[in-house]
Amino acid sequence: MKIEESKFLEGFVRLTADAFKKGWHERNGGNLSYRIPQEEIESVRQSLHEVQEWQDIGNTVPELAGEYFLVTGSGKYMRNVELSPEENVAVIQVDAEGKKYGIVWGLTAGGRPTSELPTHLAAHELKKKMTGGRNKVIYHAHPTNLIALTFVLPLKDKEFTHELWEMATEDPVIFPEGIGVVPWMVPGGKEIADASVKLMEKYRVVVWAHHGLFVCGDDFDEAFGLMDTVEKAAEICVKVRSMGGKQQTIPEDGFRQLAKDFKIDLNQDFLK
Ligand code: 13P
Ligand code: ZN
Repeated sequence: MKIEESKFLEGFVRLTADAFKKGWHERNGGNLSYRIPQEEIESVRQSLHEVQEWQDIGNTVPELAGEYFLVTGSGKYMRNVELSPEENVAVIQVDAEGKKYGIVWGLTAGGRPTSELPTHLAAHELKKKMTGGRNKVIYHAHPTNLIALTFVLPLKDKEFTHELWEMATEDPVIFPEGIGVVPWMVPGGKEIADASVKLMEKYRVVVWAHHGLFVCGDDFDEAFGLMDTVEKAAEICVKVRSMGGKQQTIPEDGFRQLAKDFKIDLNQDFLK
């Protein structure tokens, strides 16, 4: 079949359209990538062309040698993906050494994959290994409330996580391992990729201070749902602080009870 008829492109486009409407993607803000499993890439082989030029990834991902990814273009707007996936998105293949990529579909009006490719691919490499291949989505957005909180909350994993866990009873169930915080850094390179991936060893959610959020997921629903849940917690937090701050909250033992009853592996280091 043509790639336009594939379920994975449909899922990718749906996420970008929904996420733009959420207000998480001003201008070209944010980026999305999907590791395309072998059987899915074979099913759309007729749409792919040869690699014209191999380009540096800006990172080394040997475990991803030969793999294919669907990824948003750098400088492309999330809101335009739905109108023209072929102009705003690319399928890339990683070379045999895991150092370069080549475009095999898309970006028909020119361009290159997201400037955050070093972080996306390093996170894919890690999560593929950690999940036995289940994790396929890495997603970066600029959610307003979450970014606002990075100016107010301590930029520490424990404090940041605990504050957001308190914001809705089911939040600890959705991100029981917690949230990692990367201090402000220049985006787009190997340095921020290394810092993020180090935290991704422990978490599925990583905050970039004064910038945005990175999440991962087995599929588009999981990644979108995680982004949505964390940003909703941040929105509640902003509202609570705007109303003068907490007058009461979930008791500390409540978290322990929740972990027991919901059978979740809640990160005990983050309890008080
Ligand atoms: P790109 O347009 O290169 O994907 O960059 C957007 C962004 O959010 C960088 O962090
Ligand atoms: Zn960004």
